Order: sequence, then structure tokens, then C-alpha cells
Amino acid sequence: MNTTKPEAPMLETRDLSRAFGHGDHMVRAVDRVSFSMQTGEIVAVVGESGSGKSTLARLLLRLLDPTGGQILLHGQDVTTLHHRGELKTYWQKVQGAFQDSFAAFNQFYTVRRSLEKALNVLDVSLSKSDRTQRIETSLREVGLDPADILDKWPHQLSGGQLQRVMIARALVVGPELLIADEPTSMLDASLRVTVLNLLLDLRKSHNMSILFITHDLGQANYLSDRILVMYRGELVEQGPVEQVLADPQHEYTQRLLADVPRLRGKSGVPA
Ligand SMILES: Nc1ncnc2c1ncn2[C@@H]1O[C@H](COP(=O)(O)OP(=O)(O)O)[C@@H](O)[C@H]1O
Ligand SMILES: [Mg+2]
Repeated sequence: MNTTKPEAPMLETRDLSRAFGHGDHMVRAVDRVSFSMQTGEIVAVVGESGSGKSTLARLLLRLLDPTGGQILLHGQDVTTLHHRGELKTYWQKVQGAFQDSFAAFNQFYTVRRSLEKALNVLDVSLSKSDRTQRIETSLREVGLDPADILDKWPHQLSGGQLQRVMIARALVVGPELLIADEPTSMLDASLRVTVLNLLLDLRKSHNMSILFITHDLGQANYLSDRILVMYRGELVEQGPVEQVLADPQHEYTQRLLADVPRLRGKSGVPA
């Protein structure tokens, strides 16, 4: 995990696969997916429900073991990391945010406690004041007032606040890559745009890479540089966002686009 090959992509998968079940009941949730992304890139993964997007996210976060293929971070194979210590080093660099923020938090932890727990993946033991400072900084970065929020419980927060706290919880360790699995799909339209703009700000301020998972081509268009299209576990198309949306090659992408009434330009706001 220590040697960085400068020429290697930040993240790369090679034939990454995950099957569930056996024989006639086997589901190839992620099937030989190969892609790479660079530092500072925002890549959207789009696909209908059940296409394998969340399984891909869980594989990349090393929360789930692949049944085939490889994951490389800066050219280093991280597929076989299993020891808690090795995984912690990985989680310093790769963090996740999920669709259901209420489920993602321990209901018996205040915001302060949840973010302190998140800091446990760091090797260094920080002093109490350093911890507090990091936590407060990351809350401010997502537009929350620490004084107002630190001692609240998850049920005391709105969906939008909780979604921001989840992003702050990822940020607090200073990751290079954020894997955001449908982080806006439980929010109403106005909050959705706020969270998308927050992700754009984070890329700008930290040069953070974001893998943004969505079933919504409008949001993919608004946010991302490149799009990966998944269909039944396979990566069926990938390319720069303008190219894929203007001239979709795969039949599934064409259908997906036809379902979107109108896509506004980059400057527009996703419906
Ligand atoms: N733990 C699991 N056990 C069995 N099947 C699963 C499991 N997780 C996901 N699947 C199956 O894998 C496929 C892809 O699911 P998922 O990755 O959640 O898709 P998406 O996020 O695109 O909706 C689905 O058919 C789903 O039922
Ligand atoms: Mg999903």
C-alpha cells in the first residue's frame, strides 16, 4: 500500500466480478467490469435498479469480496487486503456515502460520536482537540454549523442534514476517492441540487475523485466528466459525458436516454 506508481491510474478495476448464489440461482451482480479513473475525476455509474451499481460500490469499498478480478489503487492490488490494519489504510483513501443516511448511522450515537468513530481508521492517535478540530472542519465543509449539530442524534436531523453529515463522516479522514451510492435519491429536488453542488465544491477544493452512482442521467450529466453505463452487471458503455449522452452506442443507453424527457445542459439544474 505504500509504493505509489505515478503512471498508474488512481483507481482501476480489471474484470471485477461478484456473483451471488450457485447454479441455476446464480446472479452475476457485477460481471467482468473494467474501468479506471484519475485523481480529481468525477465518474458517474448509471444503470437501472438491479444493474449491479451498489454491488460495485461495496466491492470498491472492500466491504464485499469479489468472486473474480482485481481492484488496483495507484497500481497496487488491493483485492486481497483482508487484515483489519490493511483495510484501515485503504479506508483512509477510499470512503463511501450511501442512499439511506438514516440507516447508515448508529441511532445511539450523536453526530460527534459517529465522526469520532470514523477517525478510528487513521493510524495516528489524535489529541482530543485535534479530533474536534477535524470534525468541526469537515462539518463546516458540508455547510453545517458544528455548534448546532455536534450533539444531535440522527433522529433530530432532517434528511438533507443527515446526508451532509454522512459526507462529512467520509471527509473527516481526508479520502482521495468518495464513492457516493445514490446519495441524493431520498432527498427532494431542491436539496438534491445542494448536495450535487457540494460534491462539485469538494472536487474543486480537495481535488477529490468521486464515483457517483445514480439511476438518473440528468444528475450524471450535471456532475460528471465521464459516464459508465451498467446493464445486468456488465459495463456496456463508457465515455465522456457529452459523448455518451449525445451519441449513445449501446441499445440500453439509448433506451435509458429516451426515458429522460429532456436533459438540460451543464449549467442547468437536474429536474
Ligand atoms: N447480498 C446479496 N445476495 C444475493 N443477491 C444480491 C445481493 N446483493 C445484490 N444482489 C443482487 O445483485 C443484483 C444487483 O444488485 P445491486 O448491486 O443492488 O443493483 P443496483 O444497486 O444497481 O440496484 C440484483 O439482482 C440483486 O438482487
Ligand atoms: Mg443500489
